[in-house]
Amino acid sequence: MLTKIKEIAENIAPRLIDIRRHIHAHPELSGQEYQTAVYVAGILSSCGLHVRESVGKTGVIGELEGKGIDQRILAIRTDMDALPIQEQTKLEYASRHPGIMHACGHDIHTTLGLGTAMILSQLPETLPGNIRFLFQPAEEIAQGASWMVQDGAMQDVSGVFGVHVFPSIPARSIGIRYGVLTAAADDLEIFIEGESGHGARPHEAIDAIWIAAQVITTLQQAISRTQNPLRPLVLTIGQITGGRAPNVIASQVRLAGTVRSLHPETHANLPEWIEKIVAHICHTYGAKYQVNYRRGIPSVQNDQDLTKITEEAAREAWGSEYVQILTEPSLGAEDFSIYLQHAPGTMFRLGVGRLDQRNHPLHHPQFEVDESSIITGVVTLAYSAYKYWLG
Ligand code: NI
Repeated sequence: MLTKIKEIAENIAPRLIDIRRHIHAHPELSGQEYQTAVYVAGILSSCGLHVRESVGKTGVIGELEGKGIDQRILAIRTDMDALPIQEQTKLEYASRHPGIMHACGHDIHTTLGLGTAMILSQLPETLPGNIRFLFQPAEEIAQGASWMVQDGAMQDVSGVFGVHVFPSIPARSIGIRYGVLTAAADDLEIFIEGESGHGARPHEAIDAIWIAAQVITTLQQAISRTQNPLRPLVLTIGQITGGRAPNVIASQVRLAGTVRSLHPETHANLPEWIEKIVAHICHTYGAKYQVNYRRGIPSVQNDQDLTKITEEAAREAWGSEYVQILTEPSLGAEDFSIYLQHAPGTMFRLGVGRLDQRNHPLHHPQFEVDESSIITGVVTLAYSAYKYWLG
């Protein structure tokens, strides 16, 4: 089976590169993947899949029918959206849409979903059950997975595979992670209200900027003194707004940030922990406050059995020297975790790093990939799907 999968992959490789370059040249922002969706739906239809469009707003589902002797449905999820970044590569197929770029490799992901569908649609006699290809919109704003699930994408699904490119792993290699892969990511907003006054007479006012500074500093220090150091927690205030003039004491400040954590217990206690610190400081100096803590997306927890399947598929396909078992999770976030609330799943990292030049990180205007990774990705996904039914 592996030989057959590899053979088909080699045959369609030039077509997959064309597809990837077309998608790369025509990136669309989260929730606006209209042309990408039409393009994806067209290819899926031509492979004989049952296609549903406008799932989760601009998402697409392609269902490949197996022999129907196994009622389980395996989902393979890829995402389609790009970022509001002006591309600065000199590629001939660089973005033709000003200010929008596939800088997170979702053009590769979409191509992998299509390539896997192309391969497996040529081998339907080997599939005991159905495979559902999920082409998700709006991953970058962490909403697309929820939209897809609301529209029934996970109905009757018993397992889900996902993939994300990774520039610090060289192309042709696969990164496998057991357990926690990514962090829970929440949004934090803090309003502090003091009292305005003359910049020369601070004792007659309540300085919201100074209090905001105390809040930021204390939160960072409190992580080191009150949180378990073996359970990672990152709190970043990325925005501060407040104040109107250099010589006027600010009455209002808004702080906004992101909070990343890996441990469920840490995650559960965060709103209370933050509110207590903010309340204490504001109370001491007579300011009013409001803390808005919004739960974002949970942490991706890779399922043991399904991770084993991808690991074995990759080892058999490429040899153990091309499989890295990742010892550390990432504090990045992935809305793949939303699917995992409905079925077990696993996401592997696809190496796209080039050996001959510097590799820029994800979300960088000069981010580029080694396109040989496309074959590595489709074969690994297709063979993992095949092995799924054996387990
Ligand atoms: Ni991404």
